[in-house]
Amino acid sequence: MSEECGRVVISARGAAHIRAGHLWVYRSELRRVEAEGGAVVRVTDVRGRVLGRALYSDRSEIALRLLTLRDERVDRDWWQRRLRAAFKRRVGLAEKCEAYRLVYAEGDLLPSLIVDRYHDVLVLQTLAQATDALKGTFVELLVEEFSPRAIIERNDVRVRELEGLEMRAGVLYGEDPGEVEIVQHGTRFRVSPLGGQKTGAFLDQRENHLAARRYACGRALDCFTFNGAFALNVAPVCDSVIGLDISEEAVLAARRNAELNEARNVEFRVANVFDALREFEARGERFDTIVLDPPAFAKNRASLASAMRGYKEINLRAFKLLAVGGVLITCTCSYHVDESLFGQIVADAAADARRRVQIAERRMQSGDHPVLVGMPETFYLKCLVLRVIE
Ligand SMILES: C[S@@+](CC[C@H](N)C(=O)[O-])C[C@H]1O[C@@H](n2cnc3c(N)ncnc32)[C@H](O)[C@@H]1O
Repeated sequence: MSEECGRVVISARGAAHIRAGHLWVYRSELRRVEAEGGAVVRVTDVRGRVLGRALYSDRSEIALRLLTLRDERVDRDWWQRRLRAAFKRRVGLAEKCEAYRLVYAEGDLLPSLIVDRYHDVLVLQTLAQATDALKGTFVELLVEEFSPRAIIERNDVRVRELEGLEMRAGVLYGEDPGEVEIVQHGTRFRVSPLGGQKTGAFLDQRENHLAARRYACGRALDCFTFNGAFALNVAPVCDSVIGLDISEEAVLAARRNAELNEARNVEFRVANVFDALREFEARGERFDTIVLDPPAFAKNRASLASAMRGYKEINLRAFKLLAVGGVLITCTCSYHVDESLFGQIVADAAADARRRVQIAERRMQSGDHPVLVGMPETFYLKCLVLRVIE
C-alpha cells in the first residue's frame, strides 16, 4: 500500500468542527481539493495550518472523514496499529460472547469501517470510497490477527450509494460459512452472516438482551423479535414468552434458536406488531414484561413526524397491556430520535394510557459500539427500562 497523500483545504467553519471533536467535513466546507476520490489526504485550514489526515470522497456530501489530528503517515502499519487498538478495547469480551463488533467505524476512530465477529467468521463493511479501496489491506490484516475461517463482505447497504459504490455481499476470504453457531452469554444462536439482517444479528442490543433478564418476569411479549434474542434471554426467568416478527424468515430462525436452547416456554409468531398489540388489547390480555425493539422508524429528519407517531402508538399500546408492576423495555435505533425526544414520546404514551411509570434504567447500544464524544452521530440506540406502578 503506497502513501500518496493528496491535499484538501477547508473553511474556518469546517476546521472549527474538527477542532470540536467531530470527524466529518461536509463538501460545502471544502475550499481547495488536490486529490482523487478514495485517497488519504492532508487537511489544512485556509491559513495553511495542518488539521490532520482524512479519507476523501469525491461523491458523498461527507467529503472528509478525519483519521488523525496528527500530520502522520497513514500506511499499512498505521492501519494495523489503529485496528489493534480497537481489538484491544474488546479484550475480555470473547470470554463471554462469540459475536460482537470488533470495529465500530467513527466510534473507534476508523471512519466508515465496520468489522463484526461471529466466532471464527468475520464480517467486513467498507462504507466510503477510501475504506473500500483499502479492502484488500483490511482482509490481510484481519487474517494476520485472527486467522478466521472466512471473511464476508456485507457491503449491501444503501449508504454506499452516496459514495458511488456498488452494493455487494460475498466471500472475501475462505469459503462461504453458511450458518454459524454462536454462544452469547450462554444463549445459543445460529446466524447467517451472508444472508441475515444487518451482518447476521443485532449485536448492538447484546447488553440490553442481558439487562432484560434482570427485569423480566411472568408472561412476556417480545415485539420485533428477529432471531428471538430478547425472548430467549428472558425465557429462563419468565413463565411464558411470545415473540413477534413480521418476517417469516426471522420467525423460522427464532424457532430454531428456541429448539437449540431447549426453550419450551417460548412461542414465535409471524405478525405485524401494530395489529397484534391492538388484538391483544381487544381480547383483554395482560403481560408482565414487554420488549419493543422496532426497526428505525425515522430513517431521516423528513420522516421524524410519522416515526414519532409510530413510537407513540406501540408504547401506548404496550402500557395498556402491562399489569401493575409490569416492565416495559423500549428501544429506538433512530439517530434522529434523541434521548430527550424519546423520553417525551414515552411520557406522552404513558399519560395517554393513564399509567404511572418509573424509569428503572436508561440504557444504550452495547459497549462494543462506542460513542465518540463530539460526534453525536455515533450514538443511535436508546433503551429505556420502565416499570408501571399504577
Ligand atoms: C431492530 S430489529 C429487532 C432486533 C431484535 N429485537 C434483536 O434484539 O435481535 C427489528 C425487527 O422488526 C421486524 N419488523 C419490522 N416491522 C415490523 C412490524 N410492523 N411488525 C413486526 N415486526 C416488524 C423486522 O423484521 C426486524 O426483525
